[in-house]
Amino acid sequence: RGYVCENYGAPFRLPDLGPIGANGLANARDFMAPVAAYEDVDGPVEVVNKFCGNLWTATYDHSPLDVVAWHGNHVPYVYDLRRFNVIGTISYDHPDPSVFTVLTSPSDTPGLAGIDFVVFAPRWLVGEDTFRPPYFHRNVMSEYMGLIEGAYDAKTAGEGGFVPGGGSLHNMMSAHGPDRETFDRASAAELKPQKVDDGLAFMFETRWPVTLTPHAARAEHLQQRYDDVWQGLERHFRLLP
Ligand SMILES: [Fe+2]
Repeated sequence: RGYVCENYGAPFRLPDLGPIGANGLANARDFMAPVAAYEDVDGPVEVVNKFCGNLWTATYDHSPLDVVAWHGNHVPYVYDLRRFNVIGTISYDHPDPSVFTVLTSPSDTPGLAGIDFVVFAPRWLVGEDTFRPPYFHRNVMSEYMGLIEGAYDAKTAGEGGFVPGGGSLHNMMSAHGPDRETFDRASAAELKPQKVDDGLAFMFETRWPVTLTPHAARAEHLQQRYDDVWQGLERHFRLLP
């Protein structure tokens, strides 16, 4: 089981590091590509291909993985998300999650990626005078999040909530932020250094709107009344004497 993102834009690449410098975030050395290998196996082997949104199959009488050697510059690769070198505040304020970008598919407009692939990897939170979970915001990009394991620090799982294998979608310019339970807990928390290491979540962030398939929209496990997670947030305005 897993999550799949199909990228129709520029190939994914490491993001520009800017003032971070030469190293940090996802390091090139941690991406592993296979060396040439082959198998000599008789079929039948069913090959599934996706073309123009449809799946097609063909049956071969042998394994197609019989290429003994090749050269080129497109390779499959794997990357262990726990190798991500997390950058964050060591003073105050909450940086944008773009500092968690593993790979990006840039568009013709700087700051508006076709897709940014972002990971919320284990990390220390040490910001002073700073609400630790992500702040409430709207984003010009759409955000699809998934939870690989454990819990995510801005969402309590709750009934029908954000559990491993699940996904959440906040389309462009839709307001969102931590749920009420998280807000209450984080607002009362003592701001000492805190290790966040009880989960692994990721985000596909795109400049495009994301629509649901009918299958997803009618899914039995769709969380009903999702916006209830923000009900009961108290007013905290105080009149000055
Ligand atoms: Fe967001």
